[in-house]
Amino acid sequence: MESTTKQITGPPLLKFFRKSSMFPAFYFHDLMREYGDVVKCGSFFYLINHPDVAKQILNRDQKDFNQEDFIGKRTQTVFGLGMVTSKGDMWANERRLLNPVLSSKTIHKHISEANIEIDRVLDNWIPLTKSNKIFDIADKMGDMAIMTSGRLLFDTDFSSKIDEIKEVTIIGTKYIVDGIPFFIPYWIPTLGHLKLRRINKKIDAILNAIIQEKGNSIKNRDNLANTLISALGGPNSTRQDRRLMLDELKTMLAGGYFPIACSLSMFWHVIGENPNCLQKIKDEVRSKPRDYVYNERFYQDFPVTSSAIFEAMRLYPVAFSIWRKAKIKFSIDGYIIPKGKTICISLFNVHRNPKFWNDPNKFMPERFNQEESKNRPKHHFMPFGWGNRKCIGDHYSMMIIFLTVIKTLMRYDVKIIPAPKLVVKSAALMCPEKVNAKISIIDRVNK
Ligand code: HEM
Repeated sequence: MESTTKQITGPPLLKFFRKSSMFPAFYFHDLMREYGDVVKCGSFFYLINHPDVAKQILNRDQKDFNQEDFIGKRTQTVFGLGMVTSKGDMWANERRLLNPVLSSKTIHKHISEANIEIDRVLDNWIPLTKSNKIFDIADKMGDMAIMTSGRLLFDTDFSSKIDEIKEVTIIGTKYIVDGIPFFIPYWIPTLGHLKLRRINKKIDAILNAIIQEKGNSIKNRDNLANTLISALGGPNSTRQDRRLMLDELKTMLAGGYFPIACSLSMFWHVIGENPNCLQKIKDEVRSKPRDYVYNERFYQDFPVTSSAIFEAMRLYPVAFSIWRKAKIKFSIDGYIIPKGKTICISLFNVHRNPKFWNDPNKFMPERFNQEESKNRPKHHFMPFGWGNRKCIGDHYSMMIIFLTVIKTLMRYDVKIIPAPKLVVKSAALMCPEKVNAKISIIDRVNK
């Protein structure tokens, strides 16, 4: 570690604002190329692109850094007291309550349930095979992620709620990133806030219907919604408990599906540009016997598929940035950042930092073979964040992503029609606007 102070530079204010209409991840990438590992973005925030600096910040999370930056405030406006932005004892209690439900062990007990739900969604694709029709597989990934989260996290059938859940999530997450780096208090009736109030009513209605439907009949606390409802929604619960329960369920309604839908959509986008790799995955998937049994170690049986999924997540970590505020003046690796400043860790840039990745913008799944993975420090690849606030849904997400890719390719011959240019949705997560695809049934129907 070097002790000499390093100069931090960045774009002039006018240039910053001129380019700030670009999708933030791509604009931040331009900034890394021009200004290096740590970039000063006017007086608004410091952009961190170096994995060691990112890791040190996230390891000191909550002690020296908190989420009271403008993104944190906007996120709180959308998700209320939910775990993403809660702090102190409240955060620790929420995390303690939900950790066991989302642990690898509990999640993998539900593999067969996940498979049944994925098959049910894939059954709905059959009409698409008849007409040789071009369809948007990214949109279908939204359906898949909503239906699986309904079954596994909420123990409910979301089929009649898909469009509504997509709508509220897009509006809510767009609000979080619109207007970086400013924050306007919620009580001021801006257009954005009025929209948010409208969708909040819709979300509360969806969640209250689920809570009512469950009534007092919750038998096991093996899934997320049941755990939250029995812990916070019982007859002795306070008003505050019930608000927390609704906010947490709201966090999980959007958080439990949208990043998975985006990651799967990004995967299909990337794989569409790399048809040779797609063919290798198809060969691997179809080499498995019809009665292949999925257990918690099934990932190891699909090394080609795994490497491609991880490489897609490296190139496009859908939660592309993590925001914090410095509670103290701090110095890391020779960089000094003053107290009170906002910090944006760009996971997109950490994953593409040319000091740590050869040819970083190129899709090279072999980076994730056993040998290369073993020799790389773990924090160079952190799509789920790092430290004690690392994503709580990581095991669940990986299981759904893997099963969706594998089962889709077992049942259908997928052809992706590559897009001339990646166009992403305007939302807090990185998600392609559209990924055109065609499918046909393969002879070996493997259900
Ligand atoms: C591919 C899918 C996903 C990705 C890439 C992802 C990414 C992330 C990242 C980067 C963070 C850290 C944010 C920070 O430090 O500020 C995070 C936190 C979080 N994620 Fe995820 N996530 C995914 C899926 C999920 C799912 C399925 C759930 C819910 C079941 C979930 C719930 C949460 C929660 C509650 C937090 C806050 C944790 C805390 O502060 O203790 N995420 N996620």
